[in-house]
Amino acid sequence: SAEPNTVIEPVIGLIGGSGLYDIEGLENKEWRTVETPWGAPSDQLLFGRLDGVRCVFLPRHGRGHPVPPSRLNYRANIAALKIAGVTDVVSLSAVGSLKEELPPGHFVVIDQFIDRSFAREKSFFDTGCVAHVSMADPLCPRIGDVLEAEARALGLPVTRGGTYLVMEGPQFSTRAESHLYRSWGCSVIGMTNMPEAKLAREAELCYATVAMVTDYDCWHDSHDHVTVDAVVKVLLGNADKARTLVRAAIPALGRPRGLCPAGCDRALDNALITAPGA
Ligand code: ADE
Repeated sequence: SAEPNTVIEPVIGLIGGSGLYDIEGLENKEWRTVETPWGAPSDQLLFGRLDGVRCVFLPRHGRGHPVPPSRLNYRANIAALKIAGVTDVVSLSAVGSLKEELPPGHFVVIDQFIDRSFAREKSFFDTGCVAHVSMADPLCPRIGDVLEAEARALGLPVTRGGTYLVMEGPQFSTRAESHLYRSWGCSVIGMTNMPEAKLAREAELCYATVAMVTDYDCWHDSHDHVTVDAVVKVLLGNADKARTLVRAAIPALGRPRGLCPAGCDRALDNALITAPGA
């Protein structure tokens, strides 16, 4: 862990769809293979600089050979970003909406999760020593502040705060499940952000999510009349908005700073750690 007066030159990690990295102004682009003790990440990582800020892009599902949510090597993905020197991660994720006021095309800078995924490796600490990091506040509010401010400055439809329900998939929810998650107060539903956020915390990476609404899940009356054309239109619109937001947010996120006020970068300092063999 870092000294209190450390000055950090942030390296921004971006996890999202392939195509996210087609942003104007990204220089010195280079795809590199990064190996990790947990195996191979979804793809090579794209290293580059935007306005002088170092950034590293990871296509979550890989380019060309898509990997479904249950088969992603989440540990390798987060470990690869850590090994690449990343300090701050922005996760861009397509979600369904569980609230009327979050229509398709809306962005939500979430602040909580309910993790209902089950068929995934969720910890770096599963052999040898055991560590229990806090997940009480699973997202970095400092990065969230920047994403919210930049989205508002760009006039993008954005809501700050909300709970993201992570389901295993790949099938969508039943109507009963969708109503259950609404009764729990969840805002959005998706399949990929856990265990990504848990592993980022264990790796002491600051991590924030922009959840991009593609549809009202099946609780909503509109669900049965959704057309492929409409979905494609929303997806393309969200991808454009995401690139615009990332273009604006990277210079702001990349300014030299001190330690994270929320302590994400020192998560293991406060973790309950069991010594090997104890
Ligand atoms: N990703 C996008 N829309 C979704 C939905 N309705 N449920 C789960 N994941 C999603």
